[in-house]
Amino acid sequence: MQKITVERTKHPRSKPQDQSKLGFGKIFTDHMYIMPFDREQGWHDPKIVPYQPVSLEPASMVFHYGQEMFEGLKAYRTEDGRVLLFRPDKNIQRANRSNRRLCIPEIPADDFLNGLKTLVDVDKDWIPTQPGTSLYIRPFVIATDAFLGVRPSDTYLFMIILSPSGAYYEHGLDPVKIWIEDDYVRAVRGGIGEAKTGGNYVASLAAQVKAHEDGYDQVLWLDGVERKYIEEVGSMNIFFKINGTVVTPQLSGSILPGVTRASCIDLCKHWGLPVEERRISAQELVEAAQTGALEECWGSGTAAVISPVGALRFENQVMTIGDGGIGPVSQRLYDTVTGIQTGTLPDEFGWTVQVNA
Ligand code: COI
Repeated sequence: MQKITVERTKHPRSKPQDQSKLGFGKIFTDHMYIMPFDREQGWHDPKIVPYQPVSLEPASMVFHYGQEMFEGLKAYRTEDGRVLLFRPDKNIQRANRSNRRLCIPEIPADDFLNGLKTLVDVDKDWIPTQPGTSLYIRPFVIATDAFLGVRPSDTYLFMIILSPSGAYYEHGLDPVKIWIEDDYVRAVRGGIGEAKTGGNYVASLAAQVKAHEDGYDQVLWLDGVERKYIEEVGSMNIFFKINGTVVTPQLSGSILPGVTRASCIDLCKHWGLPVEERRISAQELVEAAQTGALEECWGSGTAAVISPVGALRFENQVMTIGDGGIGPVSQRLYDTVTGIQTGTLPDEFGWTVQVNA
């Protein structure tokens, strides 16, 4: 494993005073991690430096062809002062799966984890502690060759930045309204839908703007081929409880394999609830809503944690789910996931990794 050089800031900034106003991804901590790659040296010379702008040539390939990968995970401070990461191994594996798909060189897992732990430890005083808050961690890689031909870059930067954050959605745990999009598509099998990369998110913007204009918070994507089967929300995976069974779209090749998604499946199975990963058509949801079989719906994601869905719109039909409030399984998942993350519940599954051991 490579040694990280740490240069501490001489001008520490003041930390946000009112943790109830953090919002998501708006404030950044005093330091960042940076590690370059070139073909001769591989990934080398990792550093932690004061948070600062990076200087890049306008011809850098990331600006033109979008060769970039990002991840999202969180750190929490427990009541007894420990600092915990939630399942960082899963994010590291997924980052390298995305890297392979995007022709970005893989990052050695031990350097990646060491970078996360060291940076979070350096900025641990920035971890907010109010319920519903955390330190959001954003690792990412960008292609930096100054070249306008289309090919994989020969040079890259791997960076990690940290952002003390509150709830992803403005209204916290209040149920969100979701628009099932049947015109635009986000991804197709064989494309880059299961990689975590900016291209998937820019592909979602036009539909998101349209949904917002109609009073909806997010877009739920259908498969790009038949435009029939539910995929994901873009910033979250999606779950339904239909007639007592927890159902979520199977990983089809165009859906992001979420870490919180995997944790929800494990917890529901552990509680003895039947869980099915399978294809779900929008029509099946409409029918389940009509007969009262659609009992709950929630999204799962690192940023969103567990986000109850109160209403789904498909074509001209609006389905209100349950009584429009948070359902019992969504609430139990939220309480259990956040309890394990913040150390108020025992970590029976070995999901947390202590930073400041
Ligand atoms: C996350 O949940 O960490 C994500 O990356 C979603 C994001 C686009 C905010």
